[in-house]
Amino acid sequence: MPIKNRFAEMLPEITGWRHHLHENPELLYEVRETAAFVADRLREFGVDEVVEGVGQTGVVGIIRGRGASVRAIGLRADMDALPIHEATGLPYASKVAGKMHACGHDGHTAMLLGAAKYLAETRNFDGTVVLIFQPAEEGGAGAKAMIDDGLFERFPVNEVYGIHNAPGIPIGTFVTRPGPLQASSDEFEIIVTGKGGHAAEPHRAIDTTLVAAHILIALHSIVSRNVDPLKRVVLTVGTFSTDSAASNIIPDEARMEGTVRTLDPEYRQLAEARIRQVAEHTAAAFGAQAKVIWHPGYPVTVNDPDGAARAVDAARAVALNVIDDADPIMPSEDFSYMLEKVPGAYVFMGNGDSAMYHHPKYVFDDEAIPFGCSFFAELVERRLPTA
Ligand code: NI
Repeated sequence: MPIKNRFAEMLPEITGWRHHLHENPELLYEVRETAAFVADRLREFGVDEVVEGVGQTGVVGIIRGRGASVRAIGLRADMDALPIHEATGLPYASKVAGKMHACGHDGHTAMLLGAAKYLAETRNFDGTVVLIFQPAEEGGAGAKAMIDDGLFERFPVNEVYGIHNAPGIPIGTFVTRPGPLQASSDEFEIIVTGKGGHAAEPHRAIDTTLVAAHILIALHSIVSRNVDPLKRVVLTVGTFSTDSAASNIIPDEARMEGTVRTLDPEYRQLAEARIRQVAEHTAAAFGAQAKVIWHPGYPVTVNDPDGAARAVDAARAVALNVIDDADPIMPSEDFSYMLEKVPGAYVFMGNGDSAMYHHPKYVFDDEAIPFGCSFFAELVERRLPTA
């Protein structure tokens, strides 16, 4: 096994932390118990500094190596769970009805704690390791909250890395790529206002449903007609409703909500501009009005090419298999905010044949833990070598 042997020894302890976190899931910024657990462990390991309350409930740990290097590397884990009712039947299943670690962030936190314990023990590096435990990855932009709270000014790093487990990829396999890895995720609402009336007298009304239907169809011309066919953009309208309660009423108002995902940051602006044009002008053509509300979400997750190469080198030293030119995926990830500020990389780590994440039967596979810990430790020892 190419993993660092120390982590094989530590596996029962790290698994114990993971199961404790799994039993006690917390959502978004309310990860207070989780953050306190993380901070307590870090102090126990003799980490040099532990700072709580960064970006509300984030935790930062600092480990200084040997020597006088001023270089620093950031390692990030997310701590929050999901509002899902667990259905795994595991002995350590969630004790909180309706909340579950269904994305494996308990595993990410436990792996970074394992790496922290090893690095605090061995200090076989020259420079500083900044351990970043963030809240609110699942839609709350916790990474952005930590950055806005001065994360990288207070704890400067030259590079930053993170891991996400990946169901469907074998244990011991790491997967990444240079450039865009995960899509941006923006949402929009369109409110169409016509003139309600009797269904049998449409000439006295402006049929809001018909107008909204034309807008919906026209929106689907944006990806097919405005986007370079070699680029990747998804536009989906997920809800469509009117304020009519019966088949014989022409409604006053129709609403739709949708999402735009892309791997090319410039298409976020284009999509917003075109959605506004299409909705407003299509409505005007029928004598109706459309209002577009744009909700910007997570940016594209872009791996620095050098950062991705370094992550691949470290992974090759500890993993069973490494894929360095994976296809990007369209779900989004708020580690993107950190990669906008500091070069580095995000990598996927195989989680075997578990159910997909965000599913009530998803299971983080503890066999993957030594690989994740070894990857973090190997990265530090390679990027901050002792003389
Ligand atoms: Ni996740």
